[in-house]
Amino acid sequence: MVHKTDYLGHDLLYQRRKSEGRDGWNDDKDWQEWRADILDLIASGNLPASGKVLELGCGAGDVSLLFAGKGYQVSGIEISPTAVDWARGKALKAGLTADFQVGDVRDLGRWVDGHFNIVIDGHCLHCIIGGDRADVLSETYRVLKPGGVFYICTMCGDPKATRIREDFDPESRCLVSNGVAYRYLGRPEDVVRELNESGFKIVRKHLREVGDNQEDQDNLLIVAVK
Ligand SMILES: C[S@@+](CC[C@H](N)C(=O)[O-])C[C@H]1O[C@@H](n2cnc3c(N)ncnc32)[C@H](O)[C@@H]1O
Repeated sequence: MVHKTDYLGHDLLYQRRKSEGRDGWNDDKDWQEWRADILDLIASGNLPASGKVLELGCGAGDVSLLFAGKGYQVSGIEISPTAVDWARGKALKAGLTADFQVGDVRDLGRWVDGHFNIVIDGHCLHCIIGGDRADVLSETYRVLKPGGVFYICTMCGDPKATRIREDFDPESRCLVSNGVAYRYLGRPEDVVRELNESGFKIVRKHLREVGDNQEDQDNLLIVAVK
């Protein structure tokens, strides 16, 4: 079944987070773990130590600014104008440079082929539904240099949290609410297969499981190379 999507609907989440005085997504426990993973990957040489980085779904910019603070040349693309404003403000406040653009990750046409050394999935790939996923992966592959690295951190597997179980459509593996699909929970092998089909070679894979009955979801962490 082909579901409707509403990627721009994420803007409302950012408006809400702002009005609640939150700091983007970086006050989530997941975010802290993810930040530590990225620092480990840089320290262990699994991510190039310098060069051009693109974050897909950069949100309020915290991961992009982590890279900018380490001297990388950073771009971020994000569907939510509220988030991009937020990211630009954070960069200004931190005295860091990053090119944050409002746009859709299905179309990376503003960047030429082979532009980036690293593309980071900013927890965005699990927001991308159906046939759009192949478009995002093909665009990601195109903008990476040969040998460039795609780092993915994506929710996966059967739904664990009670709050999302009733939204799960096992056929499409999407979470669907009011007829709109808002997350894709592929099995790890599904995600690996679509990466391979898009031309990527997987060099590192780790499944972070949360166990049963948690208000959380398993995450698949993948380092893939063009
Ligand atoms: C879980 S949030 C993570 C944000 C950010 N990477 C961070 O760590 O703070 C996922 C992001 O993907 C963005 N997103 C979803 N679909 C998108 C699309 N089609 N194009 C661009 N961004 C999208 C959302 O707006 C959201 O900001």
